[in-house]
Order: sequence, then C-alpha cells, then structure tokens
Amino acid sequence: MALLLTGGTGFIGSHTAVEFIQAGYDVVIADDLSNSSADVVDRIETITGVRPAFAQADMCDADAVEKIFAEHAIEGVVHFAGFKAVGESVEKPIDYYRNNLLSTLTLLEVMKRFGCKVFVFSSSATVYGENNPIPYVETMPAGGCTNPYGWSKFMNEQILTDAAKADPSLSVCLLRYFNPIGAHESGLLGDDPSGIPNNLMPYITRVAKGVLPKLSVFGNDYPTVDGTGVRDYIHVVDLAKGHLAAYKYAAEHTGTEIFNLGSGRGTSVLELVETFKRVNGIDVPYVIAPRRAGDIAEFYADASKAERVLHWRTEKTVEDMCRDSWNWEQKGAQKR
Ligand code: UD1
Repeated sequence: MALLLTGGTGFIGSHTAVEFIQAGYDVVIADDLSNSSADVVDRIETITGVRPAFAQADMCDADAVEKIFAEHAIEGVVHFAGFKAVGESVEKPIDYYRNNLLSTLTLLEVMKRFGCKVFVFSSSATVYGENNPIPYVETMPAGGCTNPYGWSKFMNEQILTDAAKADPSLSVCLLRYFNPIGAHESGLLGDDPSGIPNNLMPYITRVAKGVLPKLSVFGNDYPTVDGTGVRDYIHVVDLAKGHLAAYKYAAEHTGTEIFNLGSGRGTSVLELVETFKRVNGIDVPYVIAPRRAGDIAEFYADASKAERVLHWRTEKTVEDMCRDSWNWEQKGAQKR
C-alpha cells in the first residue's frame, strides 16, 4: 500500500515525503511541477536512500488521478497541491477557486471509486479570519477570510467535512498551518519561490545574500511587543512530522478532525530579523514601510490539541529556522 502526496515536490510536501519515507511508508508523489522542479525527487532520494514514485499530473485532471490510483494501491492521500500566493489570488480568484477546489473534488471522487478512505488536507491558519481572538483554537468559528486563497482553504474544509459526514467510513484531517519557514538541514530542500518573494523568510534570505537590497518591514505601529507583526513560525521539518502524526491518527479513526500545527509562540518581524542576524552572523538591512493591506497585528496557535491527541509538538527553535533557511539559501535555492 502506498500514500499519495499531491504537491509532493513543493516546499511542505517534499519535507513531508522525507518524513513518511523515513518512517517506512511507500510514497507516491504527484505534482504538475507548475511551481517546483522534478529534481526535488532526486534530492528526496539523496536524503532518504529511497526513490519515491513520481507522476507529473494535475490533480484537477480526473484521468490523470485515476491512472495513479490504478497503478498504485493508494491507502491514503495527503493533499498539498494548490495555488498559494495571497496577492495573486485577489487578481485571479476564478483560477484559484477552480484549481484549489476542483483538485479536492476530483481526488474525493477517485478515492471513492477506489475505496480509499483517508484524506489529510493542507489548510491554513488563515481560515480563522480577522475576527477571532488569539491564540486560535480549533473550536473557534472559521471564516471572515481576507482573500480568495484563504476562502479556498475554508471551502475545502467544508467540502471535506461534508464528505466525511455523508460517508461514515471516511477519515479527514484538516491541518491548519501557521507560518512554515526553515528548511531541511541537509540544505537540499527548502522554500524556493520564483520572482520576488511575498513571505518574510525568503525575503530575508535574499536580502542577506545581496540579491535584494533591503527588507521592508510592513508597519511598526501595531499593538505588539515592538510594533511589528507577530506570527507563529514553525520549522517545516516539525510541520512535516505533524503530518505523519496526523496521518497515523486518521488511519485509525473516521470522521473529521481539525488540528492547529504551530508552536504556540509568537515572534515579531524584528525579533525574527535580529535572530537571523545573530545566528548567521550576517547583516539584513531593513527599512520601516507602511502596513501591508490585509495583514493583522498578531496571531499564534493554541497548539494543545495536537499535543494531546497526536502526541506531536514542535521541537525546533526560531534559531534553528533561521540557520536552516540561510543554509538552504546558500546551498540549494535558485537552482531550478
Ligand atoms: C501569509 C498568508 C497566509 C499564508 C502564508 C504563507 C495572509 C493574511 N496570510 O501569512 O494565509 O498561509 O502567508 O506562508 O495573507 N512582512 C514584512 N515584510 C515582508 C514580508 C512580510 O514585514 O517583506 C511581515 C508581514 O507584515 C507579517 C509577517 O512579516 O507581519 C509575516 O508575513 P508573511 O511571511 O507574508 O506571512 P503571513 O502574512 O502571516
């Protein structure tokens, strides 16, 4: 039996593939390579000594998905594949809804035909929207998202919850990620956004490298520890291990469960920048810039449910995240 990881050559999917393979699972990666490169499969093999099966396929293409299920005995799906650029989702909402919703619907239909009953979904803390108090708890009402990307996560959660309600033999885990950064400590896997990065850590690493002149810190007048935005950063390897724990849980249960995957701790933009400079001994020039539209001041997870139910919690520190992100920028990034 094998596990299908959609989007398995992407940032979070590739790290998760490593953890599943190292735990002894047979992994099949499907990715359309629209935002990643096939050489990630080689890198996963270099790290683990095992080459996962790979299919270049779009998960909205029912024939392609059927083919994967016909060729492999798929016992469960971890669905990472999706469009994820917040700003772009505002410009191209139809593309985002089509891609991010149709892939889930297609997977559910094909899973049903093949009797596959476990679905772990890449969701996001963005589904808590703008109006919930911090820390975010899984029982809070979701919604109030600020962009189509966030709404597509919210809608997928609803689709999967309804599917599990209608089919009591289905098991669904909705994993709400906080802010994944860091990279594999080998320097072979990491976040490699094309063009100018939108997210904070890839921007910092490119400024440190001298590819970009300086970081703009978006606002220093928030009601936070130092006025800059506070987020719950999670090392991508911890996040990958969270998937393993969630999958094991899902394989033994039915129904829908939601888990926050975060550290439970907040770090401000300036704290992250200062830690990066200290750990790596390199300067990161920055300027204070206006607030970015749609940003909120501060959020972090209540991570106690994952600890209680999955026996998982983060192990790596913000220092680890800064060190591994910089190692990746120097060794692995920008090579596709
Ligand atoms: C965003 C998305 C979230 C998505 C995540 C992917 C929103 C509301 N949230 O999170 O849904 O899952 O990206 O990782 O869009 N910052 C700067 N300068 C920069 C870049 C960022 O100061 O050049 C600040 C931001 O204002 C924020 C923090 O750094 O306070 C983190 O930003 P970012 O990495 O973009 O993540 P989020 O906006 O939290």
